[in-house]
Amino acid sequence: MPGLLYGGDYNPEQWPAGVQAEDAELMRRARVTTATVGVFAWSKLEPAPGRYDFGWLDEVLDRLAAHGVGVALATPTASPPPWFSLAHPEALPVDAGGVRLSHGSRDTYCASAPAYRTAARRIATALGEHYRGHPALAMWHVHNEYGTTCHCDLTAEAFRAWLRGRYHGLDELNDAWTTAFWGQHYTDWAQIRPPRRTQYLPNPAQVLDFRRFTSDELLAAYTEQRDVLRAATPGVPVTTNFVLGGWVPVDHARWAREVDLVAIDHYPSEPGMAAEEQAAFAADLARGWARQSPGGPHWLLMETAPNLIYTAGRMHTKEPGRMARQSLAAVARGSRGALFFQWRAPRGGAELFHSALVPHAGPDSRVYREAVALGETLDRIGETAAGTVAARVAIGYDEPSAWALQGAGLPSDRLDHAEEAQRAHRVLWRRGIGCDVIGVLDGLPAYRMLVLPGHYLMTDAQAGEVRAWVEAGGQLVVTYLTGIADEHARVRTGGYPGALRELLGIRVEEFHPLGPDDRVALVPATSGDLWPAASGGLWSEAVHLAGAHALLRYAGGVLDGLPAVTRHAAGDGMAYYVSTRLDPEAYGHLLATVAASAGAGPERSGLPSGVEAVRRQAGDRSWLFLLNHTGDEHDVPAAGVDLLTGAAVTDAIRLAAGGAAVIRET
Ligand code: GLA
Repeated sequence: MPGLLYGGDYNPEQWPAGVQAEDAELMRRARVTTATVGVFAWSKLEPAPGRYDFGWLDEVLDRLAAHGVGVALATPTASPPPWFSLAHPEALPVDAGGVRLSHGSRDTYCASAPAYRTAARRIATALGEHYRGHPALAMWHVHNEYGTTCHCDLTAEAFRAWLRGRYHGLDELNDAWTTAFWGQHYTDWAQIRPPRRTQYLPNPAQVLDFRRFTSDELLAAYTEQRDVLRAATPGVPVTTNFVLGGWVPVDHARWAREVDLVAIDHYPSEPGMAAEEQAAFAADLARGWARQSPGGPHWLLMETAPNLIYTAGRMHTKEPGRMARQSLAAVARGSRGALFFQWRAPRGGAELFHSALVPHAGPDSRVYREAVALGETLDRIGETAAGTVAARVAIGYDEPSAWALQGAGLPSDRLDHAEEAQRAHRVLWRRGIGCDVIGVLDGLPAYRMLVLPGHYLMTDAQAGEVRAWVEAGGQLVVTYLTGIADEHARVRTGGYPGALRELLGIRVEEFHPLGPDDRVALVPATSGDLWPAASGGLWSEAVHLAGAHALLRYAGGVLDGLPAVTRHAAGDGMAYYVSTRLDPEAYGHLLATVAASAGAGPERSGLPSGVEAVRRQAGDRSWLFLLNHTGDEHDVPAAGVDLLTGAAVTDAIRLAAGGAAVIRET
């Protein structure tokens, strides 16, 4: 797959032949390289059990091949046909309240139902065999956005089998789940159920293990399709599109090892600059996952909306030029291209107003014209596909920690690991400091600086990795709620944060969570230290020094005079602790100072806020992506050739408002 991929989800089954013919022409005009086909087409591909109708899809693939468009061919298993659900009601998912859902939307399947798994394997096998060697076949796209949770009796059986693999007997499970609390002690495996809706608070370790089980069960459903496809079409990459969000019961860091290319779907949920920040976070997270993957460090933006940002019950239409700039921002961060949901806007169905490269208005539209221009742009910068992004800073983002902090019964109901990770990312992004967001802590030697924001769960092995890395010279920033619990969500006692207490040289005696409007004032611990006026929110705690030095102290209130931010030398490295949610200025100051001492400063210093500089490199070749997300012109230092215009750049380039440049550097 040389060059960059461009295109998106294509649903020809929704359209008559004339429109499909027009699609192929419009794709050629827009230089589309890739169409994702067949995602929800199961009922058309297998109209009755075991009876396949691939004729229409043959025509689609033949036509696309003739127009130079490669196909990411989907297995349609995210949307079982009506006949399947009627024949196998036990394969419909059951919610936490014990209610079995009905057919009528998508994702109406239970991954533990043998009938579903068999039917899914069968259609995947049929597709693999039928399209082996087809010239359009570029990639397999298994399923769509794995993420369905089921609580049925078949799931219960599978959950118990999974638990038997995880624990050496019931004693170990009872201990791990702290079942002595509220008399939940199990004396027989058969007594264990998925955490269905119950009287009051559920057991947090049971909930956490059920999420892990669901992730593994869905992964097994994915890998068995993948293996069938690999056997049928060796050499064709197989992947699935990861969906991001707190509800998703998938541990993507583990999944990344099983896909040939990490692919994500991303839809910002805020308009304005926040959308750029969210997109940058998602991209850096995808790249972090991709480092675990056979296809890494490249990854792919598989789906995003061409022309809308959906937020707070309203679709915001993107400003002219934004689709292209956001695509370049993804490519800058290592994406293998820019694919969209979707090619042509549907006339009906549940998502009839979701945006598309060919909107309801048709090709005579701003969006399609921008789509044509974007195709040309991606063509011009195709050489950048060879490059990778080298980050010296990492942020730890651990999905099981995020799940654990979603539980009830915690000291505050406003704790959110994903939000903590995004906050850390945002302050670095605003200062132009590039980073990977990493889901596992075993690749640390690649980084000079690591931020662990609310990494609530921590195993002894993870704590050991972090300690060894700091002692070898790493610069670590740990925030509140990191390393509090073990992998079973049991608190490590003796003073928080049990897993990292010694490394940080502190001991936290008790928490003082704050209300939504509470702020705590913070002052430099040593007069003359240069800090912006600092304050904290959300959280505070009673920190005692045990070898560390205070940098900021609480001023006023019950914690008056106690350390709020600390620093502790360990081996050749340094470990910082942040005990409250610092305001963005103070947090930015801290992270930028640590990054500077770690030799991990911004790609270009002094850029105006909202202007990004990101570098992709391959050996001695490098490309500097400059993205101006602001409404003003800006001059940015650069030297080389701007691939977008072909113009030579000697020492600076003027970026138009909302404009971009991709400089092949000299
Ligand atoms: C994801 C899904 C698509 C569609 C879009 C709409 O990308 O994969 O099928 O639902 O979201 O936002």
